[in-house]
Amino acid sequence: MMKNSYDLVVIGGGPGGYEAAIRAAQLGFSTACIEKRIHKGEPALGGTCLNVGCIPSKALLDSSHRYEATRHELAEHGITTGDVAIDVAKMLERKDSIVKGLTAGVAGLLKGNGVDWLQGVGTLLDGKSAEKQVKFTAHDGTETTITAKYVILAAGSVPIEIPVAKTDGEFIVDSTGALEFSEAPKRLGVIGAGVIGLELGSVWRRLGSEVVVYEAMPEFLAVADKDIAKEAGKLLKKQGLDIRVDTKVTGAEVVGGEVVVTTDVKGETKTETFDKLIVCVGRRAYSEGLLADGCGIELTERGLVAVDDQCKTNLDGVYAIGDLVRGPMLAHKAMEEGMMAVERIHGEKAQVNYDTIISVIYTHPEIAWVGLTEEQARARGHEVKTGSFNLSANGRALAQGEGVGVIKVVADAKTDRLLGLHMVGAGAGDIVHQGMIALEFVSSVEDLQLMTFAHPTVSEAVHEAVLSADGRAIHA
Ligand code: FAD
Ligand code: NAI
Repeated sequence: MMKNSYDLVVIGGGPGGYEAAIRAAQLGFSTACIEKRIHKGEPALGGTCLNVGCIPSKALLDSSHRYEATRHELAEHGITTGDVAIDVAKMLERKDSIVKGLTAGVAGLLKGNGVDWLQGVGTLLDGKSAEKQVKFTAHDGTETTITAKYVILAAGSVPIEIPVAKTDGEFIVDSTGALEFSEAPKRLGVIGAGVIGLELGSVWRRLGSEVVVYEAMPEFLAVADKDIAKEAGKLLKKQGLDIRVDTKVTGAEVVGGEVVVTTDVKGETKTETFDKLIVCVGRRAYSEGLLADGCGIELTERGLVAVDDQCKTNLDGVYAIGDLVRGPMLAHKAMEEGMMAVERIHGEKAQVNYDTIISVIYTHPEIAWVGLTEEQARARGHEVKTGSFNLSANGRALAQGEGVGVIKVVADAKTDRLLGLHMVGAGAGDIVHQGMIALEFVSSVEDLQLMTFAHPTVSEAVHEAVLSADGRAIHA
């Protein structure tokens, strides 16, 4: 039952918002979480991540990987199969049921913790007074003004749209549309070789699409360490992703049921035709309907809610977290910020360590990193030493048929302190956590050299990489 007054109101029920609401209830605050999303006809918690982001994309990555592996990798193990086919409708059904189960699970968690989920739009009317005012507009249009001592803004983000390729939901789609193709398009164009382009491009390539990925920047995966980006680019191209860097899309038009894409490659105009086109050129903070005029919240030039290192806005008692604020747009970052904000409100000294937020791209193999790249470390004035190890010399990776990729560590040559760990290879998304823990505990390279890694594991490559930083690798 909705109350008129709460200790804390969270606006947005994505990973940032729902975790904040649960933590607040655990700490004894009376809490409401306002979430407006309707997913496939039902009100849904879990935000972008659970409904149209992390989880459905990983479900499709897994299905498509199994399909590809069954077709191409089993024979060398001596396993024969009959004809292998993919039923895309069934694959989408599986994805939808995973999403449904998880979002229902979040609703259960809120209920179990005594958080009121208010289904509709939340708008901050007044954040300046000690008693904050939030307007709640239910899906049936009923408006109620709620007061709260504290407010957490967690409205997330939406895809960036570009005028040269306006989405129409059918032929030209954003990431949400790309999770719903009823069959693998014969020819698939992708604008943006970022995280979504690589993940969803991989899904449909594995299922049979010819995929061309257009990237405006001259370098592939400029956010990653150069060596890792180079190796990842090589592997993904070998798999068949046609990644074209330094290519600007100047137009996309639907003609006779096909998408005609015009590009500019170093001054030369080209056209190509696709069955579908995915636009994934980044996301932007979403604050439409969230902030009433005069509510007092400051935004940055880029439309993010301005916050300090503890997610406090310019107004006392109002916090903002997740994709709505500076920093990487990642679910785990949003979750930790939500917990930090609530614990700060509770008077604790919680702090997210922004230097150890992990990035993972869930291609196969995965690409993952934490801490500084070699280039960033040099730019910050470190005298750098690096160590690396190719997974082609790791017994376990070879035994699993995954002896490709590389792991690299970046360290300060003077102090021996580990600064970053970067990997493209089997299980990179899990192995990178070793780097995160090491960075959190301010490990030296020697600390890691002195540890005993189990044999045979892919993790041994971490050991070899740190040994190699001092010219001591055994298997290189
Ligand atoms: P969101 O998840 O966007 O949630 C905000 C919620 O607030 C939304 O549900 C919205 O409906 C609601 N809302 C907004 N305004 C209002 C309002 N005024 N009133 C009521 N409700 C409102 N990140 C990862 O870490 N790992 C991944 O593997 C990953 N994969 C992704 C794959 C795709 C295809 C996409 C698109 C994103 C992916 N992300 C991934 C990013 C991740 O989804 C976001 O970083 C994360 O969801 C941000 O969480 P959030 O709580 O800040 O916002
Ligand atoms: P992105 O920022 O990862 O990549 C966008 C790419 O598009 C960049 O390489 C950029 O240079 C390029 N680009 C921009 N404008 C362009 C143009 N006009 N033409 C051609 N290329 C252009 O953004 P993406 O892939 O849309 O993902 C959005 C966000 O969602 C990510 O930044 C990430 O935070 C989150 N996400 C995270 C995932 C994960 O953690 N595994 C998975 C998917 C999304």
